Amino acid sequence: MQIVITKDYEAMSRSAAAVIAAQVIAKPDAILGLATGSTPVGLYRNLVAGCAAGDLDFSHITTVNLDEYAGLDGTHDQSYRYFMNHNLFDHVNIDKANTNVPNGKAEDPDAECARYEALLKKLGPADIQLLGMGHNGHIGFNEPGDAFIAPTHVVELTESTINANARFFASRDEVPKKALTMGMGAIMRARRVLVVVSGHDKARAVKDAFAGPITPKCPASILQLHPDVVLVGDEAALSGLLEAGVQV
Ligand code: GLP
Repeated sequence: MQIVITKDYEAMSRSAAAVIAAQVIAKPDAILGLATGSTPVGLYRNLVAGCAAGDLDFSHITTVNLDEYAGLDGTHDQSYRYFMNHNLFDHVNIDKANTNVPNGKAEDPDAECARYEALLKKLGPADIQLLGMGHNGHIGFNEPGDAFIAPTHVVELTESTINANARFFASRDEVPKKALTMGMGAIMRARRVLVVVSGHDKARAVKDAFAGPITPKCPASILQLHPDVVLVGDEAALSGLLEAGVQV
C-alpha cells in the first residue's frame, strides 16, 4: 500500500485528483470507479479545473459509481446521481451515456442490482476505484456485518450511517434506510484502489481498516488484501494509523 499524507483537506484533494488525472491521461478510455460523500468533492473540483484548463479529456472515459440510495430519483438533490452530475459530469466533457449509477428508483431493487452487476462484469474491472470511508469503516454502502458480500446488493443502512448522512437531508426521517451498493467483488477486481480520507473523525476507522484485523466488522479492512491501494489522507485522518506505527 502506498500512503500519501497531506497537510489538510485541500492538499489531499489536489494529490488524490492527480492520481485520477494521471489515469485519465495515461488511458483516455479508462473505466473510473467513482464515489460520493463530502470527502471527494474537492478532488472533483480539481478534475473539473483540469478539464477546463484543457489538460484532461473525459470524452472517452466510462464511469461506474459505487452506490445509490433506494427510493431516490436521480433528480432528487440528495441522490448520488444528482451529486455526480452536480460535482463532476455537468462540468467536464464526459458523455453522460457512459456514466453509470445504480437506479435507486427501480421497481425491483434486487433486479436492478443484478443488472448493475452484469454491467460491471461486461465493462470489466475499473482501472481505478475511488473510495471514501464511513465512520464505521464502510466503503460504498458495504456496511459492517458477518461476511463480505461480493455482488451488487441491497443493503439496510446502519444507524451510524443514517446519522452521519442526516446532515445532508432536511430531517433524519428523510434519510433513506436502504441503498443499492456495489459489493466487494467489483471493488477488489479494480486494478487500483484510491482511498481518500480527511479529518479527525475518520482517524479511528482508518486505523481499524489498515492496521487492524481483516474482518467484515470493518469492511474497508478487506483492502489490505488488494495489491495496489493508494491511501491519500490529511494528517488528522491518518493520525491513528501513524500512532499505530504504520510507516508512511
Ligand atoms: C456515504 C457513501 C460512501 C462515503 C461515505 C463517507 O455513506 N456511500 O461512499 O465514503 O458516505 O462520506 P463522507 O466523505 O461525507 O464522510
